[in-house]
Amino acid sequence: MNAASFTFETPMIRPHRLGLINKFGRQTMQQNLRTEVFGVPVERLIQRYGSPLFVTSEQRLRDNIRRLISSFRRHYPEVIHGWSYKTNYNPAVCNILHQEGSWAEVVSAHEYERARSLGVPGSRILFNGPAKQAGILQRAIDEGAHLHVDHGDELRLIESLAAAAGKVVELTLRLNLATGYSEPWSRFGFNLESGQAREAAHFIAQSPHLQLTGLHCHIGTYILEPRAYAIQVEKMCAFMDAMEEETECHIQSIDIGGGLPSCNALHGVYLPPEQSVPDLDAYASLIGETLMRCTSQRLERGRARPCLILESGRAVVDDAQQLITSVLGCKRLADGRRGVVMDAGVNLLFTAYWYNHAVHLGRPVPGPEEDTALLGPLCMNIDVLRQSISLPPVQPGDCLVISPTGAYNNTQWQQFIEYRPAIVLVHSDMQVSVIREREDLASMMDLEICPEHLQNFHLE
Ligand SMILES: Cc1ncc(COP(=O)(O)O)c(C=O)c1O
Repeated sequence: MNAASFTFETPMIRPHRLGLINKFGRQTMQQNLRTEVFGVPVERLIQRYGSPLFVTSEQRLRDNIRRLISSFRRHYPEVIHGWSYKTNYNPAVCNILHQEGSWAEVVSAHEYERARSLGVPGSRILFNGPAKQAGILQRAIDEGAHLHVDHGDELRLIESLAAAAGKVVELTLRLNLATGYSEPWSRFGFNLESGQAREAAHFIAQSPHLQLTGLHCHIGTYILEPRAYAIQVEKMCAFMDAMEEETECHIQSIDIGGGLPSCNALHGVYLPPEQSVPDLDAYASLIGETLMRCTSQRLERGRARPCLILESGRAVVDDAQQLITSVLGCKRLADGRRGVVMDAGVNLLFTAYWYNHAVHLGRPVPGPEEDTALLGPLCMNIDVLRQSISLPPVQPGDCLVISPTGAYNNTQWQQFIEYRPAIVLVHSDMQVSVIREREDLASMMDLEICPEHLQNFHLE
């Protein structure tokens, strides 16, 4: 068999698949062209930085955070944003947000140390997470970070560290509660309805080394129903009032976590995100008005309104990044679908497990569209970006632009089989620079150590 025989495809009978019936009609890929990413030609980016390539926009990030903060400040006077590091902790991304005034919201020793190494002072760090160990807690206490307590053993550990240091440590209690609109995230924090949170507040009140000054609750992620937050705020405020009454604590902040959706298409959601995701102001107005109403009586009691803390992650960064990926090869799958092997897969786009990302052609490709499976480069059956997407006959060398990809991919990506690619930033003045180098063999093997007796042998 010579190589030329592969260019001919034997005719076959292909089953006709309707897929999900979409009353909006199918958009053709020809209409779905994206030859520029954030104003920079795709061809130029690939030539200069290779493929695959993550492209991040400084201006979009700045616009997003400014819009978030101004929307909330229109409805509530004091608002602080804590940047959720786990969403994207690339230093350039974090520093853009810190320049815009965001604090750091971290959930591990690694993230805490990262924030400090970027120059964020302890007093501007919100320290969440279920697994903070003594060493990092000690440092956070010394540096005046805001500790969000997750469970009873952690509470007792913090108390012992505070006692040993002869300090009074201010604490924020993480709560979990049911809103009736979203699946409760009950594994983090103290449960409100069962009385566990109240017990923790009383424990803090009787300790000479602890002081309760804040309440935190993250009800979940990609919350499509603004009323979920209204219920959350009502419950948190009722708890605040009760604990202030019972224990004489003074709550200064209500942290409602993150969870605002981005404009990405969740699996199984029929409507496109432009229609299924409520406008940011629907959340800001309902949350702000609820908090204003629930805290109005505090003023009569001579207490200031608590500051509102947001930890929005995906809504801030998701659409500020896109992924360019190239076709490596095409094949016919046994079920008749066309399969296209790309140079990016679930190793880079972890969020493909729950999103149908938007896919655009990076250059025009003539020819009829057909049902195509987008396969990743990993030698693993699970590496499928899209089981079914309508594509024209793309060939090796053609490229696709996948978006939005800014949230959770550059933190949850895997160093598995393939090298991870570069990330570039399109600056606000349209210059482009690398903000994370492509991995190579040296960076991949950096931490690996081969004992002496296993080195320098020759396989005969
Ligand atoms: C405590 C906390 N805050 C903020 C976030 C960010 O959430 P999102 O990206 O949904 O806004 C998360 C994500 O899980 C979280 O656990």
